[in-house]
Parts: sequence; structure tokens; C-alpha cells
Amino acid sequence: MNYKKLKRKLRKIRSARTFQELKVQYDSLYNIKLKEKDDIIGIQKAGRLAIAILKSVEEHIAPGITTNDINSIVEEITTQHNARSAPLNYHGFPKSVCTSVNEVICHGIPDDTILRDGDIVNVDVTPILDGYYADTSMTFFVGSPGNEARKIVTVSRECLRRGVLAVKPGNRIGDIGYAIQSYAEAQGCSVVREYVGHGVGFDFHESPQVPHYGKRGDGIPLVPGMVFTIEPMINLGKPNLHVLADRWTAVTDDGSLSAQFEQTVLVTETGCEILTPFD
Ligand code: MF3
Ligand code: CO
Ligand code: CO
Repeated sequence: MNYKKLKRKLRKIRSARTFQELKVQYDSLYNIKLKEKDDIIGIQKAGRLAIAILKSVEEHIAPGITTNDINSIVEEITTQHNARSAPLNYHGFPKSVCTSVNEVICHGIPDDTILRDGDIVNVDVTPILDGYYADTSMTFFVGSPGNEARKIVTVSRECLRRGVLAVKPGNRIGDIGYAIQSYAEAQGCSVVREYVGHGVGFDFHESPQVPHYGKRGDGIPLVPGMVFTIEPMINLGKPNLHVLADRWTAVTDDGSLSAQFEQTVLVTETGCEILTPFD
């Protein structure tokens, strides 16, 4: 975006006197749908269900289970709560959850792969409850982790924590990416560029995009009512990836481990509220 255009947009944002005016402006300037009280309550409920799903998956994670078993657990709890799984049939995705093992970065498809001692597996769930979406993921250890597994999981979790700390009105989207990238690279790890966080709540993937790399002070200003994910995918080696023939599974080019944690967050008047609180 050129500087003049950006300045014009900023002037418009500052001229908004009420939340309703800001809402109209964010929609027309960025196609960002700001959320109101009732929407937030709806996303919070979906978020609580998402965490309940992840917790019961966690209880079952052990050497010997398959990623299909994880899919069954997710399906069962989701239907028990009269919810739906957003991934199922999403642009042709064939299952209800993404299960990404070891060098798989994201979008792993559950199958009869058996999890083995020392593996790491990211489980990414997005229930739709009463029309509201909440998107969250965690990376679990299978059995006892080795040093590399321990490192990448610790670093990626800390990346998410630092990203969330950068969320407050007045900051910009670039501040989130900067916080994540600077930490990840200082630890000798790398940040995936091809997949980013995203607006969420009314739909699975809304505006804006939330890169996990970037410059301080760059990008769209954060304002109360924005709901989006932060979901850094962090590689132990190089950031480069390729997608397998199934057209979903993204893996590291160098075969190094990759880990990810994801939260859905709300920008509040004073900072940020996590709508999928797993910590
Ligand atoms: N849950 C993923 C995300 O965090 C998206 C998965 S798309 C799917 O954005 F089709 F693979 F499920
Ligand atoms: Co997401
Ligand atoms: Co997700």
C-alpha cells in the first residue's frame, strides 16, 4: 500500500467517533468484520468447546494410536455438542481435524499412521457452534520427547505467547509478526511464510491476514472488536516447504521438525482476550 493511501485510511479511522462508525470503516477499508458483544459470547462458547476437544485428544495421545483415532475423538465430542467441524469438506479437505506429525508443518490429513514414542503431533480444531467459529491448535508429545522435539515445541509455544502480548489497540499487525520472528530466529529456528493467521468468528478464514513475520509498526492498526488467530508455524531448520501430492500436507523441505500452537484472540479496549484459553 502506498503512503498516501495509508494516510487517507488512517485519517478515516481516527475520524470514527463511535464503535458503529469504526465498524463500517473497517469493513469498507479492509473487509474486516468487527465483532460485537453477542458475537464475542458466541465465539467464546465455540472456543470453550475447542479447548474441551483438544483436552480430550490430549488424554488419548500415546504411542500406538493413529491420527484417524484423533479424528474420531474430535468427531465424537463435536457432534455431542451439536457442533460441526469446519475442516470437514473445507475446499475438499477430507477429515474433521488436521493432524501434523514431526516434519509436517500443517494440514496433515488423519489416516492410519501410527504415532510412535518420541513423535510430536499438532492437532488443529475448528468447531462451528451456533454459527460461530473458534480455531485453535496445540502440539503434543507422544511418549517421551527427544531434545529436538522439546526445543521446537518450547520455542513455538513461546512464539505464540509473545505474539499474543503484542495484541493491543494502537499496535499494528506487523508488531505481532515482529515479536514472533525476532524471538524464533534468535533461537536459531525459522518462521513459515506461506501460511498465516487470519480473521475468524463469522467464517473460517476472514480478513485480515496475520503474518508471523514482519516489521514493527507495519500494517493495519489493531482496534477493539477484531478477532483473529495467531498460529506461528516454527521450523527447527529452514523455513522452506513443499506440499505433498495429496495437495494438503505441507512438510519442511529439509525434513526438520516443525511445531505450532494457535489461539483465537480478541482485541479489547485495553489489550487482548484469548477466546480459546488453553493456558
Ligand atoms: N485450522 C487451519 C487454520 O488454522 C486451517 C485448516 S484448513 C483445512 O487456519 F481444510 F485443512 F482444515
Ligand atoms: Co487458523
Ligand atoms: Co487452525
